[in-house]
Amino acid sequence: MVELLGKRSSSFAAVTLFCMVFAVSLGHGADKAPVKIRDANAAVAEHEPHDLVRQGKRIFDNTPKYARQYVGNKLSCNDCHIGSGTTAYAAPLIDLAGLFPMYNKRAGHVISLATRVQECFTRSEAGQPPPVDSVPIRALVAYINSLSRNGVKGQPYKSRGLVNLPALKGDPENGKVIYAVLCSACHGFNGEGAPPALPAVWGSRSFNDGAGMNDPTKMAKFIIHNMPQSSPGTLTPQEAFDVAAYIHSQPRPKFNPAYKSY
Ligand code: HEC
Ligand code: HEC
Repeated sequence: MVELLGKRSSSFAAVTLFCMVFAVSLGHGADKAPVKIRDANAAVAEHEPHDLVRQGKRIFDNTPKYARQYVGNKLSCNDCHIGSGTTAYAAPLIDLAGLFPMYNKRAGHVISLATRVQECFTRSEAGQPPPVDSVPIRALVAYINSLSRNGVKGQPYKSRGLVNLPALKGDPENGKVIYAVLCSACHGFNGEGAPPALPAVWGSRSFNDGAGMNDPTKMAKFIIHNMPQSSPGTLTPQEAFDVAAYIHSQPRPKFNPAYKSY
């Protein structure tokens, strides 16, 4: 049934027709076919999520375009969660869904995956939280659920989060030189980038000062493993901290304290 759905996923009519015929055939021997009833229900239940998953990926890959009213900058989820959330040590979202609900230090209480995604909008997206039952939240949650292999089980993915680095003190002066030589060609001399292809790293197009990335240590961990995009893994830990310190000396949007429970 799942295979059938996959092949015909572009054709809602075909699936609907199949289910109607199936329902009619059930009328002739319902008591003999309990397993098939379950299959039929699964088919109907899986149909909507399949569309939602596709929509979720689209929003994930171009958030300012497809969730415009909730985004205050020019960043997509995909700009930090590289490879549509599948790249190791770029905060991948593989096998994540089953870890929720989870205690959240910033919020100070246990939160659902939907609330975690709302939080991304108020911080990384410098915008507003979409309602829990809105399309962006439902679609992004469906997409993140789809990244859990073998179902949603609650086993953390081994390349979750970012790489480990010892905490070093960054030198923003040296970071400025590194930025000019190795980063500015893509991210711009004023950190403005060229969205949507090349994301901003500071200024009004960037994440706000409540975001996870607004932490020099986290940014250094992101940078050392993922940047420069053309030759990742070529910076020393000290260079990663220096360039993160320089980026953090630049202005960015302010987190709206009205959203502090997200
Ligand atoms: C500016 C970069 C950036 C953007 C944009 C961004 N995120 Fe994140 N996200 C992060 C970082 C960094 C973390 C890890 C935060 C931490 O450890 O505190 C994170 C964590 C998460 C987590 C929890 C992951 C875990 O392992 O616990 C989820 C879920 C998430 N982001 C979803 C999203 C979604 C959905 C979007 C788009 C609406 C988004 N993020 C946009 C940087 C970003
Ligand atoms: C060849 C172009 C290129 C170069 C050079 C480059 N980046 Fe990036 N950077 C990207 C792209 C594209 C992304 C979005 C993620 C992806 O697709 O890899 C990104 C994402 C980022 C992000 C997370 C998203 C954001 O905008 O906050 C940071 C931080 C970052 N880069 C910092 C750096 C730093 C620091 C350097 C220099 C050491 C650098 N990058 C060099 C292209 C580049």
